[in-house]
Amino acid sequence: MPANPPFDRQHPSARTAIVTGGTTGIGLACAQALVARGYKVAIGARRAGDASVQAEVQSAVGRDAMLAPLDVANRASVNSFMASVRDALGDPTILVNAAGIYHEAFLHNHSDAAWEDQIDINLSGAFRMTRAVFPGMIGAGWGRIANIASTAGTKGERGYAAYCASKAGLIGLSKATAVEGAPHGISCIAISPTWVETPMMENAFDRIATAQGISRAAARAVIAGSNPQGRIVQASEVAAMVDFFCTDAAPALTNVDIQINAGADW
Ligand SMILES: NC(=O)c1ccc[n+]([C@@H]2O[C@H](COP(=O)([O-])OP(=O)(O)OC[C@H]3O[C@@H](n4cnc5c(N)ncnc54)[C@H](OP(=O)(O)O)[C@@H]3O)[C@@H](O)[C@H]2O)c1
Repeated sequence: MPANPPFDRQHPSARTAIVTGGTTGIGLACAQALVARGYKVAIGARRAGDASVQAEVQSAVGRDAMLAPLDVANRASVNSFMASVRDALGDPTILVNAAGIYHEAFLHNHSDAAWEDQIDINLSGAFRMTRAVFPGMIGAGWGRIANIASTAGTKGERGYAAYCASKAGLIGLSKATAVEGAPHGISCIAISPTWVETPMMENAFDRIATAQGISRAAARAVIAGSNPQGRIVQASEVAAMVDFFCTDAAPALTNVDIQINAGADW
């Protein structure tokens, strides 16, 4: 009887991928790309159990993906999500940490809650998920972990202290994960986009429109004009990098923060 092919040459349909925050925006685009590539995909988000969210996401990914509720800030929720993914799809060997939030607040009136939420979801959430998948990846001798960080992880901006700190931490976590994973065939990268057109960015349109007394369309143009390309990056552009990273064409791609920045520092 022929032995199984080495894991690094297995067909995508033999691999299970998890996308946190995969119900909207960048996470959803990553889930679409991974489903299209043929992986078994599990999507987790706090509202992923809602019937309306499930219907929308299933229709967007085009073919069955598993959706289950997940709060990356809660260890019990992570454990129960992981158990249901393993039961349904087997041990995951791809993890995309896209779950994230942001609150704008100047330092002098930054609440503890806003600080803690951003650190807990954007940084500690990715750590909890990584810790949960790592043993299975070591067992398989192959793994891919993509952490959606931000240009905010390497550039400071007024009103974003917790967000910048969480994303700088996520880039550090990615590098440590890459070094620890390398002997086991596990690669880890941070992907740091500038502004991307997603529901998260809608908040920024509203804030700019209110602050400057302009329409949302004009606010959108302000953000588009804030990078040298003069356009707003789309979620599919981030997903294309995640997709490539997970293929067997990129075994040495690890321990790096890849910016998708349209020429901007922020
Ligand atoms: N859009 C941008 O301009 C931009 C730029 C750079 C980096 N990023 C980063 O890219 C990632 C995705 O952002 P996006 O723009 O796609 O945002 P989005 O459209 O608001 O999506 C965020 C996703 O995260 C989920 N989520 C939030 N808190 C969660 C939690 N505690 N546990 C599990 N899931 C949670 C949300 O679902 P639920 O609410 O149902 O949980 C949703 O699926 C974030 O990490 C963000 O910081 C975004």
